[in-house]
Amino acid sequence: RRTAILISGRGSNMEALLRATAAPGFPAEAVLVFSNRVDAGGLDIARAAGVEAASLSHRDYPSREAFDRAVDAVLVARGIDLVCLAGFMRVVSPWLCERWLGRMISIHPALLPAFKGLDTHARALDEGVKIHGASVHYVVPELDAGPIIAQAAVPVLDGDTPDALAARVLRQEHIIYPRALAMVASGRVRLEGARAVSRLDTS
Ligand code: GRF
Repeated sequence: RRTAILISGRGSNMEALLRATAAPGFPAEAVLVFSNRVDAGGLDIARAAGVEAASLSHRDYPSREAFDRAVDAVLVARGIDLVCLAGFMRVVSPWLCERWLGRMISIHPALLPAFKGLDTHARALDEGVKIHGASVHYVVPELDAGPIIAQAAVPVLDGDTPDALAARVLRQEHIIYPRALAMVASGRVRLEGARAVSRLDTS
């Protein structure tokens, strides 16, 4: 399934997805990397990998929805069927969420529903949690609230700084995001109402 990866920055999750989708037999093909930032480092990584890279600046649009309609036009023009938000630091408008409901997933650096929003690692340390992690979820209009597809947990260690914890979580993100994409692209998981449902093994 033709997949677009949306980024705003360095794109390490995008890189992990590009590597995974290049493997023979993977059920999704990354055909576009798109950014809201023309200077996103990940765009060059995509081009070097032979994947089309495009960007539109949200500052050129009068509203969130106007920008999202322009993004949607780019996706539709390329026959995109699945969208992966990978460090895409934009709140997706309800309009775009509805258009792509069940076909847009994202990764969040925390064990949702805990720590929605930003600065998750510093907040996890402030709260003194012992287990932290990452979540891949369907994108819905409410921020960081969509049905969960995959999660990974990491220990919080004594003396952890936000950067040390972030690095430990990021390593897991690079493992679970490709797996989650494969599950969604292959139809092993689908969105049913408010739940990500695994297809019961019929074997
Ligand atoms: C990751 O921690 C991801 O969970 C969050 O922002 C960061 C993006 O990193 N959405 P990268 O651009 O994928 O390296």
